[in-house]
Amino acid sequence: MNINLSNIKKAVKYLNKNECIGIPTETVYGLAANAYSDKATDKIFKLKKRPRKNPLIVHYYNLKDLKNDCKIDNQFLSLYSKFCPGPITFVLELKEKSKISNNVTNNKSTIAVRFPKHKVTRKLLKNLNFPLAAPSANISKSISAVCKTDVIEEFGNKIKFVLDGGKSKEGLESTIVSLVGNQKILRLGSLDRSKIEKYLIKKKTNKKKNIVMPGQGRIHYSPGLPIRLNIKRPKKFEAFLLISKRIKSNKNFFYLSKNKNLKEVAKNLYKTLRKVKKKGFKQISIERIPNRGIGEAINDRLLRAAVKK
Ligand code: TXA
Ligand code: MG
Repeated sequence: MNINLSNIKKAVKYLNKNECIGIPTETVYGLAANAYSDKATDKIFKLKKRPRKNPLIVHYYNLKDLKNDCKIDNQFLSLYSKFCPGPITFVLELKEKSKISNNVTNNKSTIAVRFPKHKVTRKLLKNLNFPLAAPSANISKSISAVCKTDVIEEFGNKIKFVLDGGKSKEGLESTIVSLVGNQKILRLGSLDRSKIEKYLIKKKTNKKKNIVMPGQGRIHYSPGLPIRLNIKRPKKFEAFLLISKRIKSNKNFFYLSKNKNLKEVAKNLYKTLRKVKKKGFKQISIERIPNRGIGEAINDRLLRAAVKK
Protein backbone atom coordinates (compact mmCIF):
# COMPACT_ATOMS: atom_id res chain seq x y z
CA MET A 1 0.00 0.00 0.00
CA ASN A 2 1.31 3.43 -0.97
CA ILE A 3 1.49 6.08 1.69
CA ASN A 4 -0.95 8.92 1.08
CA LEU A 5 0.90 11.99 2.35
CA SER A 6 -2.12 14.24 2.51
CA ASN A 7 -3.78 11.73 4.85
CA ILE A 8 -0.67 11.68 7.05
CA LYS A 9 -0.84 15.47 7.19
CA LYS A 10 -4.50 15.34 8.21
CA ALA A 11 -3.70 12.79 10.93
CA VAL A 12 -0.87 14.98 12.27
CA LYS A 13 -3.19 17.98 12.33
CA TYR A 14 -5.87 16.20 14.38
CA LEU A 15 -3.35 14.65 16.79
CA ASN A 16 -1.67 18.03 17.35
CA LYS A 17 -5.09 19.38 18.31
CA ASN A 18 -5.44 16.66 20.98
CA GLU A 19 -8.04 14.72 19.00
CA CYS A 20 -8.33 10.91 18.88
CA ILE A 21 -8.05 9.22 15.49
CA GLY A 22 -8.01 5.66 14.17
CA ILE A 23 -4.61 4.35 13.03
CA PRO A 24 -3.59 1.15 11.24
CA THR A 25 -1.08 -1.28 12.72
CA GLU A 26 0.03 -4.70 11.55
CA THR A 27 -1.89 -6.31 14.45
CA VAL A 28 -5.18 -4.43 14.74
CA TYR A 29 -6.26 -0.78 14.35
CA GLY A 30 -5.62 1.56 17.27
CA LEU A 31 -7.55 4.51 18.71
CA ALA A 32 -4.65 6.95 19.00
CA ALA A 33 -3.95 10.18 20.86
CA ASN A 34 -0.97 12.18 22.16
CA ALA A 35 0.44 10.10 25.03
CA TYR A 36 1.87 13.25 26.67
CA SER A 37 -1.51 14.99 26.88
CA ASP A 38 -4.04 14.46 29.70
CA LYS A 39 -6.76 16.00 27.58
CA ALA A 40 -6.13 13.79 24.54
CA THR A 41 -5.77 10.52 26.47
CA ASP A 42 -8.86 11.31 28.51
CA LYS A 43 -10.86 11.16 25.27
CA ILE A 44 -9.64 7.62 24.55
CA PHE A 45 -11.18 6.29 27.79
CA LYS A 46 -14.47 8.08 27.15
CA LEU A 47 -14.77 6.94 23.53
CA LYS A 48 -13.93 3.33 24.31
CA LYS A 49 -15.95 3.26 27.57
CA ARG A 50 -12.76 1.85 29.05
CA PRO A 51 -12.24 1.57 32.82
CA ARG A 52 -9.61 4.07 34.02
CA LYS A 53 -7.71 1.33 35.79
CA ASN A 54 -6.84 -0.31 32.47
CA PRO A 55 -3.61 1.32 31.20
CA LEU A 56 -2.80 2.01 27.53
CA ILE A 57 0.00 0.87 25.20
CA VAL A 58 2.26 3.66 23.93
CA HIS A 59 3.53 3.48 20.34
CA TYR A 60 6.98 4.85 19.45
CA TYR A 61 8.88 5.46 16.24
CA ASN A 62 12.30 4.42 17.55
CA LEU A 63 14.52 3.78 20.55
CA LYS A 64 15.71 7.34 20.80
CA ASP A 65 12.17 8.54 21.47
CA LEU A 66 11.48 5.70 23.91
CA LYS A 67 14.53 6.53 26.01
CA ASN A 68 12.92 9.82 27.09
CA ASP A 69 10.23 7.91 28.93
CA CYS A 70 11.44 4.42 29.90
CA LYS A 71 14.31 2.71 31.67
CA ILE A 72 15.94 0.15 29.43
CA ASP A 73 18.64 -2.50 29.83
CA ASN A 74 20.65 -4.83 27.61
CA GLN A 75 18.09 -7.56 27.70
CA PHE A 76 15.39 -5.22 26.41
CA LEU A 77 17.83 -4.08 23.71
CA SER A 78 18.42 -7.62 22.57
CA LEU A 79 14.67 -8.36 22.29
CA TYR A 80 14.22 -5.00 20.55
CA SER A 81 16.85 -5.81 17.96
CA LYS A 82 15.27 -9.20 17.24
CA PHE A 83 11.61 -8.28 17.04
CA CYS A 84 11.13 -4.54 16.49
CA PRO A 85 9.43 -2.98 14.75
CA GLY A 86 6.86 -5.75 15.10
CA PRO A 87 3.93 -7.24 17.02
CA ILE A 88 5.48 -7.29 20.50
CA THR A 89 4.67 -5.02 23.47
CA PHE A 90 7.05 -4.59 26.43
CA VAL A 91 6.14 -3.64 29.97
CA LEU A 92 9.01 -1.49 31.29
CA GLU A 93 9.70 0.88 34.15
CA LEU A 94 8.79 4.48 33.62
CA LYS A 95 11.40 7.20 34.07
CA GLU A 96 10.53 9.72 36.74
CA LYS A 97 11.00 12.65 34.39
CA SER A 98 8.86 11.07 31.66
CA LYS A 99 6.20 13.28 30.09
CA ILE A 100 3.70 10.42 29.72
CA SER A 101 0.23 11.39 30.97
CA ASN A 102 -0.84 9.68 34.20
CA ASN A 103 -4.01 8.61 32.40
CA VAL A 104 -1.92 6.27 30.26
CA THR A 105 -0.30 4.39 33.15
CA ASN A 106 -3.10 4.75 35.69
CA ASN A 107 -0.53 6.51 37.90
CA LYS A 108 1.64 3.38 38.06
CA SER A 109 5.43 3.27 37.63
CA THR A 110 5.31 0.84 34.68
CA ILE A 111 4.36 1.40 31.06
CA ALA A 112 3.51 -0.83 28.08
CA VAL A 113 5.31 0.21 24.87
CA ARG A 114 5.57 -1.00 21.33
CA PHE A 115 7.05 -0.17 17.92
CA PRO A 116 4.44 -0.94 15.27
CA LYS A 117 5.66 -2.18 11.91
CA HIS A 118 2.92 -0.79 9.67
CA LYS A 119 4.59 1.67 7.32
CA VAL A 120 1.72 4.19 7.28
CA THR A 121 1.79 4.49 11.07
CA ARG A 122 5.59 4.58 11.11
CA LYS A 123 5.43 7.53 8.75
CA LEU A 124 2.88 9.18 11.03
CA LEU A 125 4.99 8.63 14.17
CA LYS A 126 8.02 10.08 12.41
CA ASN A 127 6.07 13.28 11.80
CA LEU A 128 4.98 13.80 15.41
CA ASN A 129 6.90 15.11 18.38
CA PHE A 130 5.13 12.84 20.86
CA PRO A 131 4.41 9.09 21.03
CA LEU A 132 0.89 7.73 20.56
CA ALA A 133 -1.19 6.08 23.25
CA ALA A 134 -3.39 3.62 21.36
CA PRO A 135 -5.57 0.82 22.65
CA SER A 136 -7.34 -1.37 20.11
CA ALA A 137 -9.96 0.68 18.22
CA ASN A 138 -13.11 -0.96 19.56
CA ILE A 139 -15.61 -0.31 22.33
CA SER A 140 -14.36 -2.06 25.50
CA LYS A 141 -14.84 -5.85 25.52
CA SER A 142 -15.91 -6.12 21.88
CA ILE A 143 -13.90 -7.37 18.87
CA SER A 144 -10.87 -5.41 17.69
CA ALA A 145 -10.99 -3.58 14.36
CA VAL A 146 -8.84 -4.79 11.46
CA CYS A 147 -9.71 -2.20 8.79
CA LYS A 148 -10.92 1.38 8.49
CA THR A 149 -14.60 0.46 8.11
CA ASP A 150 -14.48 -1.63 11.32
CA VAL A 151 -13.26 1.45 13.20
CA ILE A 152 -16.05 3.56 11.74
CA GLU A 153 -18.52 0.83 12.68
CA GLU A 154 -17.32 1.07 16.31
CA PHE A 155 -17.17 4.85 16.75
CA GLY A 156 -19.22 6.39 13.89
CA ASN A 157 -18.86 10.16 13.75
CA LYS A 158 -17.60 10.33 17.34
CA ILE A 159 -14.10 10.32 15.86
CA LYS A 160 -13.11 12.75 13.16
CA PHE A 161 -10.62 10.71 11.17
CA VAL A 162 -9.35 7.20 10.51
CA LEU A 163 -6.02 6.86 8.78
CA ASP A 164 -6.43 4.12 6.18
CA GLY A 165 -3.74 1.45 6.03
CA GLY A 166 -5.69 -1.39 4.42
CA LYS A 167 -6.38 -4.61 6.26
CA SER A 168 -4.17 -5.44 9.28
CA LYS A 169 -1.70 -8.10 8.20
CA GLU A 170 -1.66 -10.10 11.44
CA GLY A 171 -5.27 -9.61 12.56
CA LEU A 172 -4.59 -10.40 16.23
CA GLU A 173 -3.21 -8.11 18.94
CA SER A 174 0.49 -7.92 19.87
CA THR A 175 2.10 -10.32 22.35
CA ILE A 176 2.74 -8.55 25.68
CA VAL A 177 5.85 -9.39 27.67
CA SER A 178 6.72 -7.96 31.07
CA LEU A 179 10.39 -7.23 31.71
CA VAL A 180 9.63 -5.88 35.20
CA GLY A 181 9.93 -8.31 38.11
CA ASN A 182 9.56 -11.90 36.92
CA GLN A 183 9.87 -11.79 33.17
CA LYS A 184 6.83 -13.34 31.54
CA ILE A 185 4.29 -13.20 28.77
CA LEU A 186 1.18 -11.38 29.96
CA ARG A 187 -0.90 -11.73 26.79
CA LEU A 188 -0.53 -14.22 23.95
CA GLY A 189 -0.59 -12.56 20.57
CA SER A 190 0.67 -12.30 17.02
CA LEU A 191 4.27 -13.16 17.87
CA ASP A 192 4.51 -16.81 18.96
CA ARG A 193 5.23 -17.41 22.62
CA SER A 194 8.01 -19.87 21.72
CA LYS A 195 9.94 -17.21 19.81
CA ILE A 196 10.11 -14.94 22.87
CA GLU A 197 10.22 -17.27 25.85
CA LYS A 198 13.68 -18.57 25.14
CA TYR A 199 15.07 -15.07 25.74
CA LEU A 200 13.33 -14.44 29.04
CA ILE A 201 15.46 -14.60 32.17
CA LYS A 202 14.23 -16.33 35.34
CA LYS A 203 15.03 -14.06 38.27
CA LYS A 204 14.28 -14.32 41.95
CA THR A 205 12.34 -11.16 42.59
CA ASN A 206 10.15 -9.67 45.21
CA LYS A 207 6.64 -10.97 44.38
CA LYS A 208 5.17 -7.53 44.91
CA LYS A 209 7.12 -6.27 41.93
CA ASN A 210 5.54 -8.74 39.53
CA ILE A 211 3.24 -7.26 36.95
CA VAL A 212 -0.33 -8.31 36.36
CA MET A 213 -2.34 -7.20 33.39
CA PRO A 214 -5.42 -5.27 34.46
CA GLY A 215 -7.20 -5.42 31.12
CA GLN A 216 -7.66 -9.10 30.43
CA GLY A 217 -11.12 -9.72 31.88
CA ARG A 218 -12.96 -12.98 31.40
CA ILE A 219 -15.33 -11.50 28.85
CA HIS A 220 -13.38 -9.92 26.03
CA TYR A 221 -13.20 -9.94 22.24
CA SER A 222 -16.92 -10.65 22.28
CA PRO A 223 -18.95 -10.50 19.07
CA GLY A 224 -22.10 -10.23 21.21
CA LEU A 225 -23.41 -13.64 20.06
CA PRO A 226 -23.15 -17.07 21.70
CA ILE A 227 -20.15 -19.05 20.41
CA ARG A 228 -19.64 -22.82 20.57
CA LEU A 229 -16.07 -24.11 20.25
CA ASN A 230 -14.55 -27.38 18.94
CA ILE A 231 -17.56 -28.20 16.75
CA LYS A 232 -17.62 -30.85 14.03
CA ARG A 233 -21.26 -30.61 13.02
CA PRO A 234 -22.91 -27.20 13.31
CA LYS A 235 -26.60 -26.59 13.91
CA LYS A 236 -28.49 -25.43 10.83
CA PHE A 237 -29.18 -21.93 12.10
CA GLU A 238 -25.58 -21.25 13.21
CA ALA A 239 -22.77 -19.57 11.29
CA PHE A 240 -20.05 -22.23 11.10
CA LEU A 241 -16.40 -21.08 10.98
CA LEU A 242 -14.03 -23.61 9.43
CA ILE A 243 -10.29 -23.96 9.01
CA SER A 244 -10.16 -26.65 6.32
CA LYS A 245 -12.04 -27.36 3.13
CA ARG A 246 -15.07 -29.65 3.25
CA ILE A 247 -16.35 -31.52 0.21
CA LYS A 248 -19.90 -30.34 0.73
CA SER A 249 -20.21 -26.64 1.51
CA ASN A 250 -23.22 -24.82 2.85
CA LYS A 251 -24.61 -21.28 2.99
CA ASN A 252 -23.75 -20.98 6.68
CA PHE A 253 -20.09 -22.04 6.18
CA PHE A 254 -17.39 -19.36 6.53
CA TYR A 255 -13.80 -20.32 5.86
CA LEU A 256 -11.07 -18.84 8.08
CA SER A 257 -8.64 -20.94 6.03
CA LYS A 258 -9.07 -23.81 3.58
CA ASN A 259 -5.87 -25.65 4.52
CA LYS A 260 -5.42 -25.20 8.30
CA ASN A 261 -3.06 -22.27 7.80
CA LEU A 262 -3.21 -20.80 11.32
CA LYS A 263 -1.65 -17.46 10.32
CA GLU A 264 -4.52 -17.09 7.88
CA VAL A 265 -7.04 -18.11 10.54
CA ALA A 266 -5.68 -15.38 12.86
CA LYS A 267 -5.88 -12.82 10.08
CA ASN A 268 -9.49 -13.66 9.19
CA LEU A 269 -10.92 -14.30 12.66
CA TYR A 270 -12.16 -10.86 13.78
CA LYS A 271 -13.26 -9.89 10.29
CA THR A 272 -15.36 -13.05 9.97
CA LEU A 273 -16.92 -12.66 13.44
CA ARG A 274 -18.04 -9.17 12.41
CA LYS A 275 -19.33 -10.42 9.07
CA VAL A 276 -21.55 -13.19 10.45
CA LYS A 277 -23.03 -10.81 13.00
CA LYS A 278 -23.90 -8.36 10.22
CA LYS A 279 -25.50 -11.16 8.23
CA GLY A 280 -27.91 -11.64 11.12
CA PHE A 281 -26.78 -15.02 12.52
CA LYS A 282 -27.78 -15.42 16.15
CA GLN A 283 -25.18 -18.03 17.07
CA ILE A 284 -21.69 -19.04 15.95
CA SER A 285 -19.92 -22.38 16.05
CA ILE A 286 -16.29 -22.96 15.19
CA GLU A 287 -14.11 -25.93 14.34
CA ARG A 288 -11.37 -27.01 16.73
CA ILE A 289 -8.22 -24.88 16.33
CA PRO A 290 -4.95 -26.80 16.97
CA ASN A 291 -3.27 -25.35 20.06
CA ARG A 292 0.14 -24.81 18.48
CA GLY A 293 2.01 -21.68 17.36
CA ILE A 294 -0.38 -18.79 16.81
CA GLY A 295 -3.23 -21.30 17.45
CA GLU A 296 -2.63 -20.79 21.16
CA ALA A 297 -3.34 -17.07 20.88
CA ILE A 298 -6.40 -17.72 18.70
CA ASN A 299 -7.79 -20.16 21.30
CA ASP A 300 -7.10 -17.64 24.07
CA ARG A 301 -9.29 -15.08 22.23
CA LEU A 302 -12.00 -17.62 21.40
CA LEU A 303 -12.30 -18.81 24.99
CA ARG A 304 -12.85 -15.24 26.15
CA ALA A 305 -15.20 -14.51 23.26
CA ALA A 306 -17.27 -17.58 24.19
CA VAL A 307 -17.80 -16.66 27.86
CA LYS A 308 -21.53 -16.36 28.56
CA LYS A 309 -22.54 -12.97 29.94
O1 TXA B 1 -1.66 -5.04 18.99
C1 TXA B 1 -1.89 -4.32 19.98
O2 TXA B 1 -1.29 -4.46 21.06
C2 TXA B 1 -2.96 -3.24 19.82
C3 TXA B 1 -2.45 -2.21 18.79
C4 TXA B 1 -3.42 -1.07 18.57
O3 TXA B 1 -1.19 -1.75 19.17
N1 TXA B 1 -3.27 -2.62 21.08
C5 TXA B 1 -3.97 -3.24 22.06
O4 TXA B 1 -4.23 -2.43 23.14
O5 TXA B 1 -4.32 -4.41 22.00
P1 TXA B 1 -5.33 -2.76 24.27
O6 TXA B 1 -5.44 -1.54 25.06
O7 TXA B 1 -6.57 -3.26 23.61
O8 TXA B 1 -4.66 -3.86 25.13
C6 TXA B 1 -3.53 -3.53 25.89
C7 TXA B 1 -3.41 -4.38 27.11
C8 TXA B 1 -4.50 -4.16 28.13
O9 TXA B 1 -5.05 -5.42 28.49
C9 TXA B 1 -3.79 -3.52 29.33
O10 TXA B 1 -4.29 -3.96 30.57
C10 TXA B 1 -2.35 -3.98 29.14
O11 TXA B 1 -2.17 -4.02 27.75
N2 TXA B 1 -1.39 -3.02 29.71
C11 TXA B 1 -1.17 -1.74 29.36
N3 TXA B 1 -0.23 -1.17 30.15
C12 TXA B 1 0.16 -2.11 31.04
C13 TXA B 1 1.08 -2.14 32.12
N4 TXA B 1 1.81 -1.08 32.46
N5 TXA B 1 1.22 -3.30 32.80
C14 TXA B 1 0.50 -4.39 32.47
N6 TXA B 1 -0.41 -4.42 31.45
C15 TXA B 1 -0.59 -3.30 30.75
MG1 MG C 1 -8.23 -4.33 23.21
